[in-house]
Amino acid sequence: MRALFITKHGGPEVLEVREAPTPEPKAGEVRVAVALAGLNFAELSARQGLYPDAPKPPCVVGYEGSGTVEATGDGVAGLAEGDRVLFMSRFGGHSSHVVVPVDQVLRMPDSMSFEDGAAMPVNYLTAHHMLFEIARIRPGAHVLIHMAAGGVGTAALQLCRTVEDVTTYGTASASKHDYVRGHGCTHPIDYRSKDYVEEVRRLTDGRGVDVVLDALGGADWRKGYELLAPVGILIAFGLANTNTGGKRRLLHVLAQLARIPRYSPMRLMDDNRTVSGCNMGHLWDEKALLRRQLEALVRLYEEGTIRPHVHAIHPFEQAAEAFGELEHGRNLGKVLLRP
Ligand SMILES: NC(=O)c1ccc[n+]([C@@H]2O[C@H](COP(=O)([O-])OP(=O)(O)OC[C@H]3O[C@@H](n4cnc5c(N)ncnc54)[C@H](OP(=O)(O)O)[C@@H]3O)[C@@H](O)[C@H]2O)c1
Repeated sequence: MRALFITKHGGPEVLEVREAPTPEPKAGEVRVAVALAGLNFAELSARQGLYPDAPKPPCVVGYEGSGTVEATGDGVAGLAEGDRVLFMSRFGGHSSHVVVPVDQVLRMPDSMSFEDGAAMPVNYLTAHHMLFEIARIRPGAHVLIHMAAGGVGTAALQLCRTVEDVTTYGTASASKHDYVRGHGCTHPIDYRSKDYVEEVRRLTDGRGVDVVLDALGGADWRKGYELLAPVGILIAFGLANTNTGGKRRLLHVLAQLARIPRYSPMRLMDDNRTVSGCNMGHLWDEKALLRRQLEALVRLYEEGTIRPHVHAIHPFEQAAEAFGELEHGRNLGKVLLRP
C-alpha cells in the first residue's frame, strides 16, 4: 500500500509518500481501501511537532476517511466486502489502505459521496459534541464561532441552524463572509480589521453570548470568557494561535501558552459562567457516545440538513499544498487527500 509519512517534524518538505506493507484485519476489524482521507489541523500540528497526541515520526497520521470495505476479520457482522463506508482511524488514515475496528466504520447512505463521507467525521463530530453534548444549545441561543470558515466552523454553523432561532457570530477573513453567511452565519465578523469583542458587544447590546467555541486559545480564551452572558459557556478546543503560518517562531508559541488564563471555581461561581473543553481524540474509547453522534449526523445528512463543503482534493503527491491550505488559512471548509 501507499502511505503519506511525516518523516520528521518540520515544514512541508518532511512529507513523503512511501510504500508500506498492506495490513491484514484481525478479529473484529475491517480493511478499507481508502478513496479519500480527511486533513485536519491536528495533522498539520503533528507535522509541525506541536501535537502531543501524535505518534513519533516517522509516522502516518490521519483521523478519518471514506472508501470501500476490502476484507473483514473474524466475527465482523453487518459489513461486507464492497460496502461503501466512512471510517475514523486513530492515526494511519493517510494511507491507501487502513485497518480499523468495525465499530469505527459506518456504512454510508447511497446518497453520500466519498467526498462528503471523508469530510464528515472529525469536523461534524467535534461541532456536534460541543453544541449538543457540552453546551446543549437551546432555541434563541447566541453562539460565537471562531474560525467560522474552517471545517469545524462550517459544521458548527450548519448545526446551529437545526435549533430554532439561534444567532451565530462567526469570525472570518472578510473575503470569506459570503461563504459563512451561506452556511448560516448571522453576523460574520472580520476579526482582522475589527475588534471582535467590541463587535459582539455592539451586536448583542452589551449582553454577550451564551456559547463561545474557541480553538484559537491563548489570549482569545480570556476575551471569550469576558464575552459570556450570564450562564454562558466557553468551550476551549484548540490552540490555533500557536500556528505561525509556516514560520518557526518558538517565542510566539511560548507567548501564546503564557497567555492562557487560569480560572478558579470561586470566580466561576460568582460569575455564573462555565469553562469547558473538548478533545475528540481523547474520547476515542467512548465508542457508544461517538457512534450515537455519528449516526445522528448521517441522519441529518440524509435529510439534507447538513452538507460538508469540500474546498479541495489533493493527491498524496501534492500533500505539501494540502497542508499549506490549512497552514496559511486559505481553505473554506474541508481539505481532502486522495491516495
Ligand atoms: N479538540 C478537538 O477535538 C478538535 C477537533 C477538530 C479541530 N480542532 C481544532 O479546531 C480548529 C479548527 O480546525 P479546522 O479543521 O476547522 O481548521 P481549518 O479548516 O483549517 O480552518 C482554519 C480557518 O480558521 C481561520 N484562522 C483563524 N485563525 C487562524 C490561525 N491562527 N491559524 C490558522 N487558521 C486560522 C482561517 O480562516 P480566516 O481566513 O477566516 O482567518 C482558516 O481558514 C483547529 O485549531 C483544530 O486544532 C479541535
